[in-house]
Amino acid sequence: MTSRRPHIRAYRPSDRDDVYDVCVRTAAAGGDARGHYSSDDLMPDIFAGPYLDLEPELAFVVDDGDRVVGYVLGTADTARWAAEHRSRWLPQVAARYPAVAAPTTAEERLVDLLHHPERNIHPELADYPAHLHIDLLPSHQGAGHGRALIRAFLAALRRQGVAKVHLGMSPSNTGARAFYERLGFHELPHGDDVVLLGLSTDHPV
Ligand SMILES: CC(C)(COP(=O)(O)OP(=O)(O)OC[C@H]1O[C@@H](n2cnc3c(N)ncnc32)[C@H](O)[C@@H]1OP(=O)(O)O)[C@@H](O)C(=O)NCCC(=O)NCCS
Repeated sequence: MTSRRPHIRAYRPSDRDDVYDVCVRTAAAGGDARGHYSSDDLMPDIFAGPYLDLEPELAFVVDDGDRVVGYVLGTADTARWAAEHRSRWLPQVAARYPAVAAPTTAEERLVDLLHHPERNIHPELADYPAHLHIDLLPSHQGAGHGRALIRAFLAALRRQGVAKVHLGMSPSNTGARAFYERLGFHELPHGDDVVLLGLSTDHPV
């Protein structure tokens, strides 16, 4: 029997469309990015698909009984993920988003990122090999699901023997920043226009 109370469970391949939907609805620094780009699949094909495809065992969802309303996903090893992205994920989506020689628009810069997964590797973060993405639909934010998802993700990393995790976020997403800091994430040194935060996987959240 399906529980009607929102609950956390492991990702299943049949959740993929819901995860894509949550991703695009939260991809504009936490807000709805539907209609922002030529395909609503662009953001999920960058920020969800390659994790679901390559490391589904690290994906967890919030299921409200009808559908998936939130998720956490990521990788245990960013360098390995980037290599597998290039060899196994990019070939699946590259034809949909042809590479751009000199990206200028926001969409072109995103497509460029898709074609260069190695940009996710920050050499100064070698001690923080894992990284994650987390998103919940607005209707299910602020109810403790984010904390529970991070808890499930950290436990899965610990089972794989991973000691530290990082994430990158837009500096304008002040709500998410408050959430991460509340859970104990700390800022990591980085010179770019992205904020990097880190946490030990044994940190209580
Ligand atoms: C950011 C997000 C994952 C947080 O998940 P959540 O379920 O809303 O957060 P929780 O209810 O588990 O909150 C955990 C703690 O963080 C705090 N917190 C969460 N969001 C907050 C906010 N916007 N401002 C201040 N504190 C916040 C909560 O108050 C809570 O603290 P408490 O235990 O002392 O009460 C979720 O709001 C979300 O998906 N937002 C839109 C997408 C997004 O921005 N994703 C992150 C991209 S980097």
